Amino acid sequence: MSSQEMFSARVLSLYPSMFPGPLNYSLAGRALKDKRWDLSVLNIREFASDPHKTVDGRPFGGGPGMVLRADVLDRALSAIIPKEQQNEPVIVLSPRGNPLDQKRVNELALGAGLTLICGRFEGIDHRIIDAYGAEEISLGDFVLSGGEIAAIALLDAVVRLLPNVIGAAESLTNESFTDNLLEYPQFTRPQIWDGYTVPNILLSGDHAGIASWRQNESEQLTRERRPDLWARHNRELTSARVKK
Ligand SMILES: C[S@@+](CC[C@H](N)C(=O)[O-])C[C@H]1O[C@@H](n2cnc3c(N)ncnc32)[C@H](O)[C@@H]1O
Repeated sequence: MSSQEMFSARVLSLYPSMFPGPLNYSLAGRALKDKRWDLSVLNIREFASDPHKTVDGRPFGGGPGMVLRADVLDRALSAIIPKEQQNEPVIVLSPRGNPLDQKRVNELALGAGLTLICGRFEGIDHRIIDAYGAEEISLGDFVLSGGEIAAIALLDAVVRLLPNVIGAAESLTNESFTDNLLEYPQFTRPQIWDGYTVPNILLSGDHAGIASWRQNESEQLTRERRPDLWARHNRELTSARVKK
């Protein structure tokens, strides 16, 4: 996306007043005010067709709970996605989806926008996912009561990567998940706090030494805490070397 275009986020929810919520603060909030991105939120219930404003039904085949209806969601999606933006990703927040990671966040931030469907109850009628070629994305292996918090987390992660949202571009290149590594430990003033000191190398002014210390710390932390990420780091490093 060029720095001139505005990234547009569209959200369908039964609780539209939960937005922008935390997205109104700090980086995302400033970027929203500066029109670096734009947020439209529609209440799914407005697209119910009966006087009782019914948005859900019992699951076919039986079982507990209720499921958000395909016909209602379809009307809401048709209303929120402008014709020229129909090729942008439609994402259903769901514990069954692919876990969100920084790689997918980067890809989404390079696009021009996206549509998010926040489920409630037992989730949404699967036919919507097929009909819209929607992608299911999960925030992690736990069950939330609705998709709104997951949608806010996803948008926060995407918006901070949009052009000119974070001041120092360098803070993006060093952070966790760059090169599949976790970030090294950080320290600031005071130099001695409650008897705790900071690693001497960070006070040395030796830039190469500091970079090497940070790289080692990142590698060690990743190896200890996230063997899955460490394996991916090594795999990608090997394949990059083979390509050279
Ligand atoms: C109570 S959950 C439904 C759980 C569903 N019956 C299941 O077992 O997979 C209601 C809604 O919360 C959202 N949700 C719950 N956990 C989530 C997660 N880990 N990631 C993203 N969205 C989640 C989804 O939108 C989901 O439709």
